Amino acid sequence: MSIKHYLQFNDLSTEEINYVFERTAWIKAQFKGYKKYWPLEDRTLVMIFEKASTRTRLSFEAGMHQLGGAAIYLNTRDSQLGRGEPVEDAAQVISRMSDVVMIRTFEQSLIERFAANSRVPVINGLTNQYHPCQILADIFTYIEQRGSIAGKTVAWIGDANNMSYTWLQAAELLGFHVNISTPPGYPLDPELADLDNNKAFTVFEDPMEAAKGADLVTTDVWTSMGFEAENEVRLKDFSDWCVDEEIMTVANKDALFMHCLPAHRGEEVTTGVIDGEQSVVWDEAENRLHVQKALMEYLVLGKI
Ligand code: CP
Ligand code: NVA
Repeated sequence: MSIKHYLQFNDLSTEEINYVFERTAWIKAQFKGYKKYWPLEDRTLVMIFEKASTRTRLSFEAGMHQLGGAAIYLNTRDSQLGRGEPVEDAAQVISRMSDVVMIRTFEQSLIERFAANSRVPVINGLTNQYHPCQILADIFTYIEQRGSIAGKTVAWIGDANNMSYTWLQAAELLGFHVNISTPPGYPLDPELADLDNNKAFTVFEDPMEAAKGADLVTTDVWTSMGFEAENEVRLKDFSDWCVDEEIMTVANKDALFMHCLPAHRGEEVTTGVIDGEQSVVWDEAENRLHVQKALMEYLVLGKI
């Protein structure tokens, strides 16, 4: 059987994503009903972190435990991974002792090299280029709250980063549109999104224009992990790209607000918006757990 990896959002087809969402709803219902569901009993997840994390580590580790398996945490500070062992060698060894691997790192090419040498599925837990597990959770959250996302408009206000590029892939696969506005000097590079064409998004200079009529307004930190040296200058350059109450008034009346978290209130979003009635950030964070359980079930066992 060929191994299926999840290195970017479009590694799964539209049909597979919809299947994962169906399984997510079912798995979430078992969890909420305190029902034991152990399809991955005796299976092991290895999690490799080269960057910090709260949600990703917790949701993968708790998720694997809840599916009956075990999770092992490795980081580059206290394993051989940080001491120059070739990633190809690490992949050979780690994948002989585990059933699924999740990696959070800098370069997308690193997880691609790992996956090319892995005997088991590899999941992207965030790279500089993509954050596919987060967008799965975001779209599942949208569907829970509002129904199908097909034909809807998502406004992305802020940095052209891993989250935004993953939104573009999702829009192409699931048939919705992204209005994107980034500050001068931080342009979107559509090449990085690895799209079939550029029909699924529109670029706006003015964030207010991008938010007009949107069904979902979303943003992220102005300075992603790995870009900390640019923080001071970004604080100035992004100051007009804050999702505030005024931006939310031009979106659809029933528009949702999402943020992958961690958030900086007063920078990319105001307290009033993130803690306001349109915000679904806590459901969004919780759904990381449920979608990743469905994803691991699918990658390890296939359709059941
Ligand atoms: N949203 C997200 O991936 O959070 P962590 O960085 O805490 O994992
Ligand atoms: N864009 C952010 C997401 C954090 C979950 C980062 O890469 O730091």
